Amino acid sequence: MGRWPEFVEIKEVGPRDGLQNEKKRVATSDKIAWINMLSETGVKEIEYSSFVHPKWVPQLSDAHEVGRKITRNPDVRYSALVPNQKGLDLALEAGIDGASVFMSASESHNKKNINKSLSETYPVLGEVIKNAKDAGKHVTGYVSTVFDCPYEGKINPEQVRKVIDHLFAYGIDDISLGDTIGTAVPSQVEALLDVVLKTYPKEKIILHYHDTRGMAIANILTSLEYGITRFDSSVGGLGGCPYAPGAAGNVATNDVLYLLHGMGIKTNISERKMQEAGLFMQNKLGKTLPSKSLAYAIAHQ
Ligand code: HMG
Ligand code: MG
Repeated sequence: MGRWPEFVEIKEVGPRDGLQNEKKRVATSDKIAWINMLSETGVKEIEYSSFVHPKWVPQLSDAHEVGRKITRNPDVRYSALVPNQKGLDLALEAGIDGASVFMSASESHNKKNINKSLSETYPVLGEVIKNAKDAGKHVTGYVSTVFDCPYEGKINPEQVRKVIDHLFAYGIDDISLGDTIGTAVPSQVEALLDVVLKTYPKEKIILHYHDTRGMAIANILTSLEYGITRFDSSVGGLGGCPYAPGAAGNVATNDVLYLLHGMGIKTNISERKMQEAGLFMQNKLGKTLPSKSLAYAIAHQ
């Protein structure tokens, strides 16, 4: 293998991470039409919604209906965020293929986000992971605030590793490491991956960058240099965590595709179809989405 991988896998998180921070309610029928469009882009996993408390994230309170009404492409894994057993029960009823459990590396963000300390969270997620695996589902663990916490500042990579160790011990299939507030620079990525890759194979590691300060593409490049080939991204660059003040959207799928395809790295995803999906949601929200590649494509179509 050369310096760059031949293939990179993208998980589209726009319908979950992208929409969860949007104040303007998107109609359920529009979400369904949009997820159906995303399902035809070539992407292999779509995180389509979230089974959290509807009061905490009202935009995604239609997760059940969306899950029941989308047209399933058999080549796509439809996953959803679940915080606890109640969320898993609802998600299983809605027909998820994959469950994404989540917690933070920092106490204060965990408390704000899911109302529990780290030690209170472990047994809750342990039960969810076991039950989701027993139900035959793929389980991804998310760790948030892996570089910086909006309340505690810099996070030590060893603290992140401890959380990852717990989640793998409970039986997750893979782990997504979240730059929740989009503050990391490549040297922080190196410091974290130096620690994590000592214990875990790169195939099990996903990087989840928010692009608050425009560093996400640089961080992806650094991750690629470490052999990481799995990333989360959001069409148009939608997104943000409602419980992390100032956090902007995920890195835009359109920008990541432009980067990877330009470097000769395959993804099996159609840039044109991803642009159409971005334009669709831009029109529904009535605002310009952050992705520069999407804006360029729209201006020159
Ligand atoms: P809580 O209030 O501590 O929950 O919230 P509780 O267990 O004490 O229960 C209180 C009530 O909520 C009960 O109802 C439960 O039944 C109900 P009552 O008896 O009072 O009528 N309840 C639920 N209802 C529906 N669905 C559920 C559920 N669970 C309990 N799943 C909870 C705890 C975790 C539920 C809450 O804090 C929550 O929903 N938090 C979600 C916050 C969130 O969605 N944040 C954004 C996603 S994370 C993220 O964006 C980061 C990520 O992208 C990675 C990165 O960027 O770093 C993943
Ligand atoms: Mg996120």
